Amino acid sequence: MRGSLVVGNWKMNGSGASNQALVTALTDCQWSDSVTVVLCPPSVYLGQVQSLIADSSLVLGAQDLSAHASGAYTGDISASMITELGCQYVIVGHSERREYQQESDSLIAQKCLAAINAGITPIACVGETEKQRNDGETFSVIRRQLDVLISTLSTEQLEKTVIAYEPIWAIGTGLTATPEQAQEVHQKMREQLAGSGQNMTLLYGGSVKADNAAQLFSQHDIDGALVGGASLVAQDFSAIASSF
Ligand code: G3P
Repeated sequence: MRGSLVVGNWKMNGSGASNQALVTALTDCQWSDSVTVVLCPPSVYLGQVQSLIADSSLVLGAQDLSAHASGAYTGDISASMITELGCQYVIVGHSERREYQQESDSLIAQKCLAAINAGITPIACVGETEKQRNDGETFSVIRRQLDVLISTLSTEQLEKTVIAYEPIWAIGTGLTATPEQAQEVHQKMREQLAGSGQNMTLLYGGSVKADNAAQLFSQHDIDGALVGGASLVAQDFSAIASSF
């Protein structure tokens, strides 16, 4: 279902004490009831954050999961494990995992399936490098990444998936895609997703801040944001969630 969504990807940041301070501050903040706000802490802190958000409207998400249900996969966590910890969302195929863990498009599609089968909404990330953008390859890269999802998931499964467009050159660099650049890609993605596209939530990620969120969210095909750095500061993250 298409809806307003703001997701905080804490990446490999946090500690027991800093998580407590951040989440406590966020539970005092307010934004529209129509916005779903998701926190994705490192997996070792999912239990802590689950307890901290228990009486709030905040929702829990994980940063990754295994495509396998169980077994000899040292260091991995399964869909059922994160479900048990209360996760309703999971990020898959972030560019940092594509780069540092060599995750392929087909593995990412399998991870989406594992999440959907467990009742968790996958947030599948796509995006081009700076070189690919400069070489005019943005749309072909995104098309290729989305094609694997489209051919692996049924229409019903696809419509249970959130797509996050995160241009790699904008991640953690302070260089945000302009609202027009982001909108252009989101529109193409909706077209490629055909009938399903109208029902799906599409996020933008890459240096989203309190001062650029409103302009991004005003674009017709952008439903929210996947936020990195600014999700670690309660005031900034709350301001982004309040930008619709
Ligand atoms: O997943 C969020 C992300 O990669 C963007 O990070 O720090 O540019 O907001 P940041």
